[in-house]
Amino acid sequence: MYRLVVMVSGNGSNLQALIDNVHRNAKVDAEIALVVCSKDGAKALERAAEAGIPTSVVALTDPSDREERDARLNEAIGAVDPDLIVMAGWMSIVTGVFLNQFPDKVINLHPSLLPAFPGMHAIQEAFDWGVRTTGVTVHIAEEAVDGGPPILQEPVPILPGDTVDTLAERIHGVEHRLLTRCVTLYSQGRISRNPATPRRMIVNDDGGS
Ligand code: GAR
Repeated sequence: MYRLVVMVSGNGSNLQALIDNVHRNAKVDAEIALVVCSKDGAKALERAAEAGIPTSVVALTDPSDREERDARLNEAIGAVDPDLIVMAGWMSIVTGVFLNQFPDKVINLHPSLLPAFPGMHAIQEAFDWGVRTTGVTVHIAEEAVDGGPPILQEPVPILPGDTVDTLAERIHGVEHRLLTRCVTLYSQGRISRNPATPRRMIVNDDGGS
């Protein structure tokens, strides 16, 4: 069975989508082997426990030494030998110590159409900028923050009556669907990197299951 690690920091609604639509879905041959959380007490940990999924809290104890934290990430995640590592609301910058340990196996979810609005406040910044369309990106995680090649992207319009909250709600709905789709396609061996065009991921999505 295809083995996933999901990395979270807070609420974990995207983790919940993966639990409901991948982990508990008999039609998808994949399981979440471990949830890694950067914060003790996060709601996401409750969601994992409720689903019977093992958890590990790996916090940044010394902000000037991310590499020390990343060595602990390698230990916790390496122990379950994952096929794919999904940053689903993981809100802490990681270094090459972690990313180089799992080349092309770490993907990140981001609530904008990258390269617009990278960083921690993408929904608010898109709203404040006044753009008419923002969206969701799932991309390969690289050392440049929110900078790896996109895998799936979907636009989300900003409507005249929107508040940041209504926009965020719509974006989260798209995230849950897009991340589920991305992880399912990975588990079916339908996503790869073309060495000849390394910024352009090959996604073999026929729209079916
Ligand atoms: C999601 O909107 C995700 O895209 C965002 O955090 C939220 C987590 O929600 N991630 C980033 O902004 C990363 N730069 P969740 O905890 O309910 O899944």
